[in-house]
Amino acid sequence: MRIVLLGAPGAGKGTQCKRIVEKYGFQHLSSGDILRQERAAETDLGKKAQSYMDSGALVPDELIVEMMAGAINKTPSAGFVLDGFPRTINQAAELGKSLDSSGKKIDAVVNLQVDDEIVALRITGRRSCPKCGAVYHIKNLKPKVEGVCDNDGTGLVQRPDDTLEVVKNRLENYRKQTEPVVCYYKNNGSVQDIDANKDADEVTALLFEMLDALVSS
Ligand code: AP5
Repeated sequence: MRIVLLGAPGAGKGTQCKRIVEKYGFQHLSSGDILRQERAAETDLGKKAQSYMDSGALVPDELIVEMMAGAINKTPSAGFVLDGFPRTINQAAELGKSLDSSGKKIDAVVNLQVDDEIVALRITGRRSCPKCGAVYHIKNLKPKVEGVCDNDGTGLVQRPDDTLEVVKNRLENYRKQTEPVVCYYKNNGSVQDIDANKDADEVTALLFEMLDALVSS
């Protein structure tokens, strides 16, 4: 099963992918997480991506396509769920070509729909653990002890691109460059829209219902 999870910044892609992985055992491939790992390791790719990410711009396609092709090739056969990729029509076309060449295809495209005001609240309140990557929210998903990761006691941090100013750029770029990807997939097959303004557990229930139907078909 190969799934693409689309949605604006803060739609809840990462949160839902972790739950999908727990239930179905697919590999979670997040382009944002991979880029942050590259930055932390101070690789050439990480250094090139830094200024784009911090300003809320998209990292150039040629860097992303190669990076994600490498990640997909390393995934075991249980399948994967893509989070944050593809984010441009060009990335979607390159992904299609690369899967075609190995006789594979995308089985489902899911679009998490969320309002801009909710995005701003979710993103500015997000905190994450620099050690294990767990994601919290100062109101919606609090850790047991304020500012500290439940899993390993590490101090939580805010992503540098999670300020209101950068969120505006990220949303603008999402509208210009990534919303057309939703239309691209609608024109080339089908897209399942999910109302992601709802509580995280309600969104998970909708996603699981949809994925259960796909897995058993
Ligand atoms: P990336 O890391 O992919 O960021 P994003 O797409 O902007 O998405 P987020 O991680 O901000 O949000 P999410 O939807 O995963 O929400 P989450 O579950 O954490 O990309 C970062 C940057 O890398 C990009 O700006 C770009 O520069 C670059 N990049 C990445 N991929 C690229 C690509 N393909 N091409 C080019 N450049 C690329 O939830 C957010 C918060 O809300 C959390 O605190 C969570 O607890 C809370 N929450 C989640 N769901 C709910 C809910 N239903 N109700 C209440 N609270 C909720």
